[in-house]
Amino acid sequence: MSKPKVFITRRIPEAGLNLIMLECDVDLWDKDLPPTKEELLKHVPGVNGILSLLSDPIDADVIHAAGDNLKVISNYAVGFNNIDVRTATQLGIAVGNTPGVLTEATADFAFALMMSAGRRVVEAEKHVRAGQWKTWGPSTLLGVDFAGATLGIIGFGRIGKAMARRATGFGMRILIYDPTAKPMTGVIKVDLETLYRESDFISLHIPLTPETRHLINADAFSKMKPNAVLVNTARGEIIDQTVLYDALKSHKIFAAGIDVSEPEPLPMDSPLFELENLIICPHIASASTSTRENMALIAARNLLAGLQGHRLPHVVNPEIYQKDHL
Ligand code: DGY
Repeated sequence: MSKPKVFITRRIPEAGLNLIMLECDVDLWDKDLPPTKEELLKHVPGVNGILSLLSDPIDADVIHAAGDNLKVISNYAVGFNNIDVRTATQLGIAVGNTPGVLTEATADFAFALMMSAGRRVVEAEKHVRAGQWKTWGPSTLLGVDFAGATLGIIGFGRIGKAMARRATGFGMRILIYDPTAKPMTGVIKVDLETLYRESDFISLHIPLTPETRHLINADAFSKMKPNAVLVNTARGEIIDQTVLYDALKSHKIFAAGIDVSEPEPLPMDSPLFELENLIICPHIASASTSTRENMALIAARNLLAGLQGHRLPHVVNPEIYQKDHL
């Protein structure tokens, strides 16, 4: 019997890739940069499965170009805003993601960004390398305190909760904004306005949806404290970057750390690079070796389950399994 055909849009860690290689006829995009839309459209016709990265737009064009044999799209990420899930669902195509395994690594990095921005670690390092370290100074590179400060967490899912666990250890007061979250000991559920007004640190842990796009806009910044530190490890589009620039430039807030941007990569002529009170990282919050291996395993298992007509272990559109679907 012939093996199912799959297109994998980048080399993923071997743990997952080997599982797929054993079972499938694989077309692997083995380059450092992602396939363009044109290249995607060339590679998908006739495939039974696609394993995509968050940088690949698996939109209606790509899904239709794949054709009737496409059974599964397995995203190597927990976020799936790069996939047109609606079209996939209408066509009965399963979509998978990789939740859970990246929770701790992502929260570690969000916390690291929060501390680095709050205590000006990157600026301090640049200061030393630029030969500006002349003496110990009472007001050199002053930052903000964590103990007793208030952390506002927007989105209290797995990663938001992992942030709260870390913040508890630092003696922080924790506010959360998440209309779906159940009350929990140690955190205070508030509305967004209260969170903006009372938080010394704000960390974003929500998916990108039409409702969350530019949630952090001029109105949000106008309510934040002057000592506020904003951290984004979710998706760049959640913050209006023009307003972020103004807020940091005018010291409306103290600092920010972003691991994600709009677009990615951030063009080198972006005005954001002028700002000393902004740390910009290249979307690496989940980038620990074991996390990326575990993501590869989950993505491979989702792909193989979909190809075999089984329910994906981590399915984004479970409605396709309902009896009356299609
Ligand atoms: C995700 O999984 O959605 C992250 O952004 C990258 O690991």
